[in-house]
Amino acid sequence: MLKGKSLIEPNDLSLEELDEILNLADKIVANPEEYTDVCKGKVLATLFYEPSTRTRLSFEAAMLRLGGSIMGFSSADSSSAAKGESVADTIRTIACYADIAAMRHPKEGAPKVAAMATDMPVINGGDGGHQHPTQTLTDLLTIRSLKGKLDNFTIGICGDLKFGRTVHSLIKALSRFSSVKFVLVSPEELKVPEYITHEILKNNNIDYKEVEKLEDVMGELDVLYMTRVQKERFFNEADYIRLKDSYIVDMEKLSSAKDDMIILHPLPRVNEISVEVDKDPRAAYFKQAKFGMYVRMALIMKLLGVEK
Ligand code: NCD
Repeated sequence: MLKGKSLIEPNDLSLEELDEILNLADKIVANPEEYTDVCKGKVLATLFYEPSTRTRLSFEAAMLRLGGSIMGFSSADSSSAAKGESVADTIRTIACYADIAAMRHPKEGAPKVAAMATDMPVINGGDGGHQHPTQTLTDLLTIRSLKGKLDNFTIGICGDLKFGRTVHSLIKALSRFSSVKFVLVSPEELKVPEYITHEILKNNNIDYKEVEKLEDVMGELDVLYMTRVQKERFFNEADYIRLKDSYIVDMEKLSSAKDDMIILHPLPRVNEISVEVDKDPRAAYFKQAKFGMYVRMALIMKLLGVEK
């Protein structure tokens, strides 16, 4: 039963609940016009203490396309956080006005604190370098739609695996499916945190390897998940400058890739995928952004307990 739940990290959803959301998203993708007023009278609050384009606007577009209304703020300075209000007090207040909230915060755990302070469903829209469960729902819907399955494939995840919250959530979620092999491609300094290699990959006997060169593994991949080096989480600008261009996927690098590999990226892209790649049929990152809106429509409906 998803009604009334919050979504803080991907595995808050059982595999059954995940399937329910993805199946509803498939139905919405097929017939979006049948859902245009299912959330009439409901209000979504977007509480974004950190910049966002896709996550906030796809949440808002999702609610508007379901016939609901939206309100919120898009930076900490325009909320009472600037006056020193706690996240718990803010959410208690928002719960007086809205039916469901999506929150992005630079501090890891802030959306969880919010969820514990209210009965209103709270959705984590990204907390620091920690988790980003709705990007993961987006990624799973995209992979399932384009590859037809969520098991038995090899995924290369490349870039900033240390600070990239989308990476942490995706590994966590995919580790529950059988025979998903992970190829983790990053510079030494940006490897996935140890809690992920130990608690998730090693403890579950998952097939994974860590490499530094993307070219060496390109031909093995069914999915390539590129990520941006997370500038805002670096303590030292010199380190960011040294690492920011570690990987740039271009047509030449793709020459050894499988013909049916798909290239995903949570976006925003800086320059880790050269724009010439956008025309290649394997480039799926803008389709992925669209799937993000549909899966958020499904999630909002499920958490509000709204049926068609
Ligand atoms: C990601 C994020 O905010 O973590 N963006 C997104 O939500 N699509 C990825 C990023 O900022 O690099």
